[in-house]
Amino acid sequence: MNANKNYKCYNNKKKELSPPMENISRRTFLKGVLAGSTALFINGCFPNLLPKTQTDPELTPNVEFVIRSQEGILPLFAGKETVVWRYKGEVTKGDPVALAALDGSYLGPIFHVERGQIVRIHYQNQLPESSIIHWHGLHVPPEADGHPRLAIDGGETYVYTFEVTDRAGTYWYHPHPHGRTAKQVMAGMAGLFIVHDDEERALGLPAGQNDLPLVLQDRVIDRSNQFVYAPGGMMHQMTGFLGNQILVNGFLDYQLSVRTEAYRLRLLNGSNARIYKVAWDDGTPITVMATDGGLLETPVVKPYVVVAPGQRLDIWVDFGGEPIGSLKKLVNLGHEAPGGTHTFDLVRFRLAEQGKLYPLLPEKLSTHEKFSVDDAVNTNQPRLFTLAMGRGMRFTINGRVFQMNQTAPDESVRLNDIEVWEFDNTVFGGMGMMGGMSVPHPMHIHGLQFRILSRDQSRVDRWLWNSLADGLIDDGWHDTVLVLPGERVRVLVKFEDYTGLYLYHCHNLEHEDMGMMRNYRITA
Ligand code: C2O
Ligand code: CU
Ligand code: CU
Repeated sequence: MNANKNYKCYNNKKKELSPPMENISRRTFLKGVLAGSTALFINGCFPNLLPKTQTDPELTPNVEFVIRSQEGILPLFAGKETVVWRYKGEVTKGDPVALAALDGSYLGPIFHVERGQIVRIHYQNQLPESSIIHWHGLHVPPEADGHPRLAIDGGETYVYTFEVTDRAGTYWYHPHPHGRTAKQVMAGMAGLFIVHDDEERALGLPAGQNDLPLVLQDRVIDRSNQFVYAPGGMMHQMTGFLGNQILVNGFLDYQLSVRTEAYRLRLLNGSNARIYKVAWDDGTPITVMATDGGLLETPVVKPYVVVAPGQRLDIWVDFGGEPIGSLKKLVNLGHEAPGGTHTFDLVRFRLAEQGKLYPLLPEKLSTHEKFSVDDAVNTNQPRLFTLAMGRGMRFTINGRVFQMNQTAPDESVRLNDIEVWEFDNTVFGGMGMMGGMSVPHPMHIHGLQFRILSRDQSRVDRWLWNSLADGLIDDGWHDTVLVLPGERVRVLVKFEDYTGLYLYHCHNLEHEDMGMMRNYRITA
């Protein structure tokens, strides 16, 4: 990776981020904050300046963090050490359990926060290039959302303050500078952001040592153990960058010792482009308990589950009946989406110890606040987003690529409106030899969780559809939905609490960096 250690004074420059020129609703004004300090120092060293923050008493943080992005050198594989870019950090105010390091991994520490907490995160960029952290899946004010326009240079600090309003669930964080997200994630920058709440705790679900993160990522690793990121070329523009080695939580051949007990497995697809089709090796059905936005109303049982880039799925498993010494494996099954031909092991669970009897997974997990398609302002006329390929073989949304500060007239929505959005991937892009080709797009909307209303798969290739359909989890709350080539997917969205500029984009990170990303604006 581009390791440039000779940049200047990285730890004492700070940058003031003035509020974006938005109409800021009262709630945004009170709760959303930005902070940062003064002036934009491009070069040179300056004394440490205290960031200015909102002084509203509502925003007094319950827990405060410092997170740094920095280069590191880790013994990840046998032989030579690997240069990574990663997040490190600590709790500077509040209970230290709010941040849990993943020992030995390049992945960032795992946040454990409570719904209702006010968190403040001082992000210090110690990399030789600009970056910004996005809290994927969280409903936060625009100033705290990590939009690329807020990216800070190496040596600068960005302070996020927000209330955690989201349901308990598995969220995550990663860089979001424009054009370099893919590269920075590939270099190691990503981590989980887990929200807990009383509703969930009351269920007595597997917790503590029985609550395991499983971050799925692929990499190309060269002979000197370095991550190779060389996108480019027609194939990568189409499919995104696909690695040939699978890392789970940052490790090859991931194996865990477990007890004969029930576990919650929090799957995150943190890969740039790879779609996983996850199953138990012995054919045991998969029990899904939560999606991107937290617990399902009731568990869903599937023969396998499909996890697209950016998505999370929490799986419940009871190893109760398994003999000590046996192995149970989560595998990836081959499928027809790009890069999906191979079947390989993801995680091996070695039954190491007798455990205690565990309660069954409750049949009722949660009640989802009901707003329905009938409440939408455009029930019969979805806001349409056509996914296609434009000039230069870049994927576009309604014919457009990313513009840093702009929105088109059809990208403006009203606060508190409920809308139906449709992602249409039926227009096969390109001319000549590329005509008739398209690829899956995991479409992600910032700032909210949505419902998946319907899929029209009548124009999806049968082989492709049949290889994935039984593993799509459309129940529950989502922030990312897989739209297959030939497919039209409708989702129900609601714009709450904050006005301003948010993103929606394809979470295939190569597509995103190439411009398959747009702003939408919530207006009062
Ligand atoms: Cu996880 Cu805008 O992305
Ligand atoms: Cu996001
Ligand atoms: Cu895409």
